[in-house]
Amino acid sequence: MRRVVILCSFVVGIAGLGFGGVGLKDLTPAGKERDPVSGREIYVNTCIRCHGIDGKGARGIKLVPQPADLSSPAVQNRLDGTLFKRIHEGKPNTAMGAWKHALSDDEIWDVLAYVRTLGVGSSAQP
Ligand code: HEC
Repeated sequence: MRRVVILCSFVVGIAGLGFGGVGLKDLTPAGKERDPVSGREIYVNTCIRCHGIDGKGARGIKLVPQPADLSSPAVQNRLDGTLFKRIHEGKPNTAMGAWKHALSDDEIWDVLAYVRTLGVGSSAQP
């Protein structure tokens, strides 16, 4: 009896996963999942030391030019594609490196989704 119950929940679980996958694909036609939660993890591990916890720049960092203020309208008004390319390719002659070597495209989209939450007045901000 117990075995049947376990088997049943297993089957339901698999079915649920299947549905979840289909639903997600439908919502993101480009096939890109943008997950600001895993993006936040990437941001904390790789970007925060220059861009700071709020995107306005890490305190005490001395770079020329200074890291961009990711919360500023100047950055937030750029298109996703522009910012993606900036993170992917880096910016020549600045400390902003090309993250394509360290992060997959999906990870860059995720971190970009998190960068969007840093925008002033962003609806994603608590
Ligand atoms: C070593 C320091 C450093 C690290 C680490 C870093 N950045 Fe930067 N970032 C910079 C600097 C410097 C600039 C260029 C500022 C300028 O253009 O004047 C910049 C620019 C940018 C821009 C372009 C803003 C614009 O003007 O459009 C984006 C977007 C960005 N960074 C995102 C990120 C993300 C996301 C990460 C983590 C994956 C990251 N950066 C990691 C230093 C850094």
